[in-house]
Amino acid sequence: MNLYEAIGCRQSVRSYTKREAPEHLKSKILSFFEKTSRLNDRIRIELEILEPDAKNVRIKGMWKVEAPYYLALYSETVDGYERNAGYIMEQLVLYMTVKGLGTCYLGGSRPDQPVKNGKKCVILVAFGYPEGKLYRESPLAKRHPLSSLCVFKEEAGEQMKTILKAARLAPSAFNAQPWRFIVYSDRIYVFARKPRISLKAEKGMRDFSMGVMLSHIMLAAEELWMELKTETEEQFAAKAYKNGDYVATLTLR
Ligand SMILES: Cc1cc2nc3c(=O)[nH]c(=O)nc-3n(C[C@H](O)[C@H](O)[C@H](O)COP(=O)(O)O)c2cc1C
Repeated sequence: MNLYEAIGCRQSVRSYTKREAPEHLKSKILSFFEKTSRLNDRIRIELEILEPDAKNVRIKGMWKVEAPYYLALYSETVDGYERNAGYIMEQLVLYMTVKGLGTCYLGGSRPDQPVKNGKKCVILVAFGYPEGKLYRESPLAKRHPLSSLCVFKEEAGEQMKTILKAARLAPSAFNAQPWRFIVYSDRIYVFARKPRISLKAEKGMRDFSMGVMLSHIMLAAEELWMELKTETEEQFAAKAYKNGDYVATLTLR
């Protein structure tokens, strides 16, 4: 199974056994992090595996899931850092899925030391060996249909549909699925719905989720050997939209 294939069968795992992950697997996760694609490679980030049982760390917060391990991603808090963090963390989550580990994002939890080397903990992901099922068949994922997420301005070919299906399966905070797409035959205009409440934390989790979704598009394009160009068009970025924010224009060849 590769990362693209893992998109179709990953699910959040909220119950874990006490089985230990071997040291070499933990090292592989940390070295895979170095190879992940980034939306902005100028943003300084750091990854750490936290083990509350073995070391003196505590995880606290709302909607917490008990697990033997937590992956913590720390980042500089510059423009676009949440989206960049989501893009990277989802590649790690899919990597762990491939390796037989269950995962669950924890947007409301933080370690008791939320700052490391001047970088802020953006997200925690609980992981370990699952108590129940690791995989789920993609039709069972609770997601909006593509017809609700997309406005098709031109007919989408098979490759475009494959890419949109991968985007649709992305996990998001509260399963809010904030992404909306205006679709042409060779490009997608990506928008993010405005958060229900305009809290900074809520917008941060929305932007993180947008990064998660963009990593699915990147992996699907790679699987199809397509070239993906991501740009921000100033004329759209400067415009205020009633229901959402313009995120990017993606061109696929
Ligand atoms: C940014 C983010 C934050 C999340 N925070 C939590 C959380 O605090 N607790 C939790 O149980 N699940 C959390 N989730 C998991 C989502 O609820 C889950 O991904 C979504 O409901 C879709 O379900 P699935 O992952 O099984 O496909 C979070 C997901 C994302 C992407």
